[in-house]
Amino acid sequence: MRRNSLLAAGLLLCAAVALAAEPPSLKSLAPPGLRIGAAINRGQSSGGDPKAEAIVIRQFNTVTAENDLKWERVHPEPGRFDFGPADRYVDFGARNGMFVVGHVLLWHQQTPAWVFAGEGGKKLDRETLLARLRGHIATVVGRYKGRIGGWDVVNEALEEDGTWRKSPWLEAIGEDYVAKAFEFAHEADPAAELYYNDYNLWKPAKRDAAIRLVQGLKAKGLRVDALGEQAHWGIDDPPLEAIDEMLAAMRKAGFAVHVTELDMDVLPRDPDQWGADLAKKARIRAASNIYPDGLPPAMQEKLARRYADCFALFLKHGVGRVTFWGVTDATSWLHDFPIPGRVNYPLLWDKDGREKPAFDAVADVLRKRAAR
Ligand code: G3I
Repeated sequence: MRRNSLLAAGLLLCAAVALAAEPPSLKSLAPPGLRIGAAINRGQSSGGDPKAEAIVIRQFNTVTAENDLKWERVHPEPGRFDFGPADRYVDFGARNGMFVVGHVLLWHQQTPAWVFAGEGGKKLDRETLLARLRGHIATVVGRYKGRIGGWDVVNEALEEDGTWRKSPWLEAIGEDYVAKAFEFAHEADPAAELYYNDYNLWKPAKRDAAIRLVQGLKAKGLRVDALGEQAHWGIDDPPLEAIDEMLAAMRKAGFAVHVTELDMDVLPRDPDQWGADLAKKARIRAASNIYPDGLPPAMQEKLARRYADCFALFLKHGVGRVTFWGVTDATSWLHDFPIPGRVNYPLLWDKDGREKPAFDAVADVLRKRAAR
């Protein structure tokens, strides 16, 4: 009996020591009010990538589906929904006690062509598209009512100069399509948080347009919980001053700010990379794929400093959520964007799931803040 209790006490002690020795996670270091998370893919939410899954469970308290809730995935044909992978994603988040984000209800990309086709070969009209939008949102948001805590309602409605993006949504419905999407989302789950999400909001014209857009929604009495800057940034760009000014302007306008899709592209970009000339693209790929075998130590350090500087600004301005766009470097979308077939290093874990210096740098910024 005595031997058994001694054994039990010993085991407890070992567990306590192991726990104490385990370095703190990003979520445990983050100040109250800051959620920290990652976008996860189908493999990661379905048991197909145990290494990344373990990182997500240990480090994060919120997840976003990288692709599995997009219109083309869940609603590929009129009247046909495919919720299998989305269900597994939501279950994954719930099982691990995470705040589950829904991405995305309305976007001009990854939306099937049928959504924008008129009935019987006629031109698409406002009422038809509004009815499709409302039906889609009611079904998708309704299915996860109470389980998905917040939705990216509208993605990327603005051009770089702050004018409306010329999308099929704008063309068929008019400027109030954004308001309608927020109205339908709130109708489907009144308790869910609702976000407007866009990229390059550090550009003043686009930032101010996004602020005006959300102010307009709020003036109509619509629920909007946060303004999301995607933050697909580079190792040098945007300058820290621009990020600082963006966050200050959004906070001054009274909005909660989320950093929704954070990663840092370490490869050079070329102004001609967007062209369709395949030979030229191949030359650009060869010239800009400069770290095919690993990121050199000096660049690892530069990436670490960049992440630390950005996180210092997120803390300074009280950002409410930071979500990385991916978990490890193994599966980032940046290997294939803007040119397919390069090797990129945009995240905090390398392709084998090892913590990079950038991880330590972010943890350090959070730790110093926690110690204050
Ligand atoms: O799953 C199929 C696979 O079966 C097929 O063999 C393969 C061949 O191309 O394609 C696979 O699908 C790809 C999918 O990513 C999953 O890897 C799609 O082609 C590809 O277009 C898709 O790209 C996604 C992109 O959105 C679409 O525009 C990226 O993963 C995703 O990271 C990216 O995320 C967006 C956000 O939603 C909005 N903000 C910008 C961000 C980056 O573009």
